[in-house]
Amino acid sequence: MRLKDKVAVITGASRGIGRGIAELFAAEGAKIAAVYRGSQAAAEEMVAGITAKGGVAKAFQADVSDLAQVKALFETIESEVGPVDILVNNAGIIHDDLFVRMDPADWAKVIQTNLFGTYNCCHQVGFPMMRRRSGRIINISSVAAEFVNMGQTNYAASKGAINSFTMALAVELAPRGVTVNAIAPGFIETDMSAPVRNKAGDAIQKMIPLKRLGKPEDIANVALFLASAAGGYMTGQVLTVDGGLSLGPVVSK
Ligand SMILES: NC(=O)c1ccc[n+]([C@@H]2O[C@H](COP(=O)([O-])OP(=O)(O)OC[C@H]3O[C@@H](n4cnc5c(N)ncnc54)[C@H](OP(=O)(O)O)[C@@H]3O)[C@@H](O)[C@H]2O)c1
Repeated sequence: MRLKDKVAVITGASRGIGRGIAELFAAEGAKIAAVYRGSQAAAEEMVAGITAKGGVAKAFQADVSDLAQVKALFETIESEVGPVDILVNNAGIIHDDLFVRMDPADWAKVIQTNLFGTYNCCHQVGFPMMRRRSGRIINISSVAAEFVNMGQTNYAASKGAINSFTMALAVELAPRGVTVNAIAPGFIETDMSAPVRNKAGDAIQKMIPLKRLGKPEDIANVALFLASAAGGYMTGQVLTVDGGLSLGPVVSK
């Protein structure tokens, strides 16, 4: 077991990529603090599934965009599960619209959740991890930070900032043995990508050199590498996991 008895906080663990990471980390022996915002039933069901397989997991409700809630959340996790060894900042949202039409509230909501949510959680674990001279932080970014889509100025800005934040934080925490990395997924089959998948159909698969969409497990496996001893000499990196999508259009001969 690669994460035996490590306490792992995973935000947005009720569904999609976060759920995939929580289930894999639990199977590798981690004690999971699964954070959700509104999907209590889904989070409880996920936790019950882990427990039924002999794993350790507990669900916690909090809105990561709210610093006061996040402070209370980490105090509760520390007392009920233990000091945090691994933090996965996965919670994220989209509110797409063309820039000139975008409601300022949608701009703010996306930045507040994706970027400030990541900051809020890192802020709770940074000092304790430095003091213990160990820790892993994994931020879930997106290829959309660099390979931009129409209607995603808010989302691209939030994920681009997460990439820069990851590098800058890595430099500050590295001398104390704490690593900070990001994963930039491409199209992954989750609720978030459903509207685009439904609209574009097979066209998306054709754009991806590996000719399939990603699954939450594809991201979870890379997160496991970064969280485990195997990833111990990597920090400040943004790992793209997209089936080759970001290589750009491929011209066949
Ligand atoms: N799917 C993709 O193709 C794709 C591609 C690139 C990057 N990503 C990134 O991967 C991450 C996960 O995406 P996903 O596709 O798994 O999304 P998803 O299926 O929509 O799930 C989002 C998760 O985030 C949680 N969440 C949202 N806002 C929150 C908040 N304010 N506080 C706490 N939790 C919150 C949700 O909780 P509730 O269920 O309780 O609402 C849910 O668990 C995101 O950061 C996303 O930007 C996804």
